[in-house]
Amino acid sequence: MKLVFITGGSSGIGQAMATAYLQQGWRVALVARRLGALETWATDMSAQLRLSPDSINVYGADVQNPDSIILAAEQCMAQMGVPDVVIANAGISQGVDTAEREDLAVMRQVMDTNVLGMAATFHPFIRGMQARGSGTLVGIASVAGIRGLPGHAAYCASKAAVISYCESLRGELRASGVQVTTIAPGYVATPLTARNRYPMPFLMTAQDFARQALRCIARGTSYQVIPRPMGVVAKLLRLLPNAVFDRVLKGQPRKHRHSDN
Ligand SMILES: NC(=O)c1ccc[n+]([C@@H]2O[C@H](COP(=O)([O-])OP(=O)(O)OC[C@H]3O[C@@H](n4cnc5c(N)ncnc54)[C@H](OP(=O)(O)O)[C@@H]3O)[C@@H](O)[C@H]2O)c1
Repeated sequence: MKLVFITGGSSGIGQAMATAYLQQGWRVALVARRLGALETWATDMSAQLRLSPDSINVYGADVQNPDSIILAAEQCMAQMGVPDVVIANAGISQGVDTAEREDLAVMRQVMDTNVLGMAATFHPFIRGMQARGSGTLVGIASVAGIRGLPGHAAYCASKAAVISYCESLRGELRASGVQVTTIAPGYVATPLTARNRYPMPFLMTAQDFARQALRCIARGTSYQVIPRPMGVVAKLLRLLPNAVFDRVLKGQPRKHRHSDN
């Protein structure tokens, strides 16, 4: 039975992808900081899908701390083997204002989680996948990584870094048979987007997103925006001259800051 390792599995997109993989008969290793939430979900899923006891393992780990996520990865490999697919999905989104001293710490946390956390998630699996000559590393980016949005500097910068990082890694690993897939979600209804105060075009459910993401991963797609209509918007945004882009965004509400919570 194939194995997928997913970070950020206690909620939203990560949990929806884990469910979709279980429904396809895969084994799942799930990571998040809230171990209790993972355990509750695993118990519910096992009963609902009548899974064998070795179908799901959960690990409490913090991707901001490389030792923590590496330990979870090593435990997973010892208990379940080298995964076929690793999805670095754990991520946070906070608005920041660079003029505010306290927001520098928020920016560090966003970068540590979304960017370094992804590299620390992939790191422990690379040698094993290379030795086997197969495997897929999936980075969950965002359409927000394509152009910088006012009030959203930390998140946009982190997701732009994710897109470039995954592209570099793809070139590095291609010859060894290890695939890297970048998926850039548009707007997905999860706790992360629940408090957004601005319009969210093409908003989709986490279940719909998961179905489309699993298809891309299975096909070995290198980069995909989901949903596809958002991909068209993303392409246009990339082409838009700065003056037009700035005019479009003028007066739009900003992402809420940590201290607005
Ligand atoms: N929803 C959208 O519209 C959207 C759009 C574009 C991109 N994305 C990206 O999709 C990914 C998942 O987002 P989501 O919408 O599903 O958000 P979510 O519901 O808030 O889930 C985020 C997950 O990441 C985990 N997480 C956060 N920090 C972590 C850390 N330091 N260590 C380990 N796990 C951590 C959380 O679990 P714990 O709190 O238990 O640790 C949770 O399971 C993120 O990378 C996000 O940037 C989402």
